[in-house]
Amino acid sequence: MDAGAFPGARRFVWKVIYNTLGRFWRDPDWRFMNYGWLPPEGAMPIELAAEDEPERPFIGLYDHVVRGLPLDGARVLEIGCGRGGGARYVARYFQPSEVLGVDFSAPATDLARRLNSDTANLSFAVGDAERLDLPDASFDIVLNVESSHCYGNMEKFVAEAVRVLKPGGWFGWADMRSKATMAATVQSLAHPGMQLERSEDISADVVRALDAANARKQHRIARVWLVRRFMAEFAGTKGSLLYRGLISGEVVYKSGWFRKL
Ligand SMILES: C[S@@+](CC[C@H](N)C(=O)[O-])C[C@H]1O[C@@H](n2cnc3c(N)ncnc32)[C@H](O)[C@@H]1O
Repeated sequence: MDAGAFPGARRFVWKVIYNTLGRFWRDPDWRFMNYGWLPPEGAMPIELAAEDEPERPFIGLYDHVVRGLPLDGARVLEIGCGRGGGARYVARYFQPSEVLGVDFSAPATDLARRLNSDTANLSFAVGDAERLDLPDASFDIVLNVESSHCYGNMEKFVAEAVRVLKPGGWFGWADMRSKATMAATVQSLAHPGMQLERSEDISADVVRALDAANARKQHRIARVWLVRRFMAEFAGTKGSLLYRGLISGEVVYKSGWFRKL
């Protein structure tokens, strides 16, 4: 997931994977590619339209990252938007003036556009987290959900996020790392241009979401045979390395809010 020795190779491999998925696996009901977030039993569930219920675990991760941020009227940028489900959730359930999703995978961006063409104030573009083709101080909120583990250079990405944020703007982040490399990631996020406002270990919430989404994932994976084993690992199904790692603590999933100074 985040082997540090060959960051360029890691970036390349992730691009091949996401380009391939975007080109060949275009299910119209597959808008999210994150591992999800669900609260403990007894907590108040978020209210979702019936059509969004099947994606509750994955929407949950976005809701966890954005709820409480000043989204009303905000210009929002999501870096690493994948198939656009999260940007769609923000555009539909909150009142931002505009949401732009960027992703370095052109097939994923193309799919995001197709799957979310019914949503106003939402657009997508190809863009690299480490080299954003966007003006300085142009967004109120920057989001980054389960994407940064793919990057070649985390510091470059964080500098870009800070650059495109307006002063006082918010950066909402969530991602996983091995226990051994999480400290370095947290260090990379400690940019002098922004201050940490909230930080949480959400590993247990992610495991709940993996459990809840397992049957649906198995069903989707059963339709392919050639890469079934790979997809079972990739999707974090029960018994996968990632699933076991989150339970044992070898993999840590964190979220955070940062505010540009
Ligand atoms: C696990 S998926 C998550 C997608 C989306 N955030 C979600 O939760 O459904 C990771 C995404 O990050 C994108 N990505 C990886 N490296 C990137 C980079 N350097 N710049 C922009 N996007 C990148 C991938 O193409 C992929 O769509």
